[in-house]
Amino acid sequence: ATTLGASAAQSGRYFGTAISGGKLNDSAYTTIANREFNMITAENEMKLDATEPNQGQFNYTNGDRIANWASTNGKRLRGHTLAWHSQQPGWMQNMSGTALRNAMLNHVTQVATHYRGKVYAWDVVNEAFADGGSGARRDSNLQRTGNDWIEAAFRAARAADSGAKLCYNDYNTDDPGHAKTQAVISMVRDFKARGVPIDCVGLQAHFNSGNPVPSNFQTTISTLAGLGVDVQITELDIQGSGSDQANKYRTVVNACLAVARCTGITVWGVRDSDSWRASDTPLLFDGNGNKKAAYTSTLDALNAA
Ligand code: G3I
Repeated sequence: ATTLGASAAQSGRYFGTAISGGKLNDSAYTTIANREFNMITAENEMKLDATEPNQGQFNYTNGDRIANWASTNGKRLRGHTLAWHSQQPGWMQNMSGTALRNAMLNHVTQVATHYRGKVYAWDVVNEAFADGGSGARRDSNLQRTGNDWIEAAFRAARAADSGAKLCYNDYNTDDPGHAKTQAVISMVRDFKARGVPIDCVGLQAHFNSGNPVPSNFQTTISTLAGLGVDVQITELDIQGSGSDQANKYRTVVNACLAVARCTGITVWGVRDSDSWRASDTPLLFDGNGNKKAAYTSTLDALNAA
């Protein structure tokens, strides 16, 4: 097949992109996004600060624009994200204890209910583990409400939308030798053993010189899949250019294709100029919308599956 989405679909997978609501009027952007991708994640518009700017007052205007663009164009939606220490609205940032726990659970319930039936998979909890070698939870106002905040969020999400796959999503969890990766694996094993409703793990896969593509990335994916969850590559971007970058994209795509329960790949933006890594060129299209070598290696890998 000749597009990323159609090529991924040949093996029952999807190929997605993050979409920024402010660019839906840019026809060069939407032309590529519509042609190449069949799964959409809102880059910022479904986060806590966007959807509940004042406590108990929900604003779905920008999130709905992206959800509607996806559905109008026949694309599925990944929801991002219901509970996170970052991008909290101001009112939430200074909350703690039971009040924060209840506010978080209400947020999960309300937003998952609003998008019920429209979301293929939710990143229910994002980035809850610490960086470095401790394997510990990240300190945050949510963590300080009690170690069970993650499972409480998953149970609330399941109650609100029983049809969405519920994912835990994190970064620097690609190398099986990293403590953070092992901590996520342990949490998933524990959740499955205790019946906490978790269906998938999102590996963000933001790769750069400090977090290179690990040669054994596939081991992380297969280990998680072996615990009985789907795995999705949720925010892929890779620092670099030319054939070196193309080879790294091929490695990542092949790692997913090698594991039956790796169900899809999302890149974190359309063109290099759309990336959050403004000074870098980590995506599949250049700023003029031209296909890069990394696009070709990705497409070819998908078609070889
Ligand atoms: O919309 C406001 C605008 O009104 C204001 O004038 C401007 C001034 O700073 O800020 C704008 O908001 C920015 C927003 O992106 C929209 O462009 C925020 O400052 C900026 O912090 C925000 O960055 C986003 C970042 O998450 C925030 O944590 C990036 O776009 C987004 O790509 C990035 O995505 C995250 C994933 O959600 C989770 N994993 C890591 C990934 C990369 O950091």
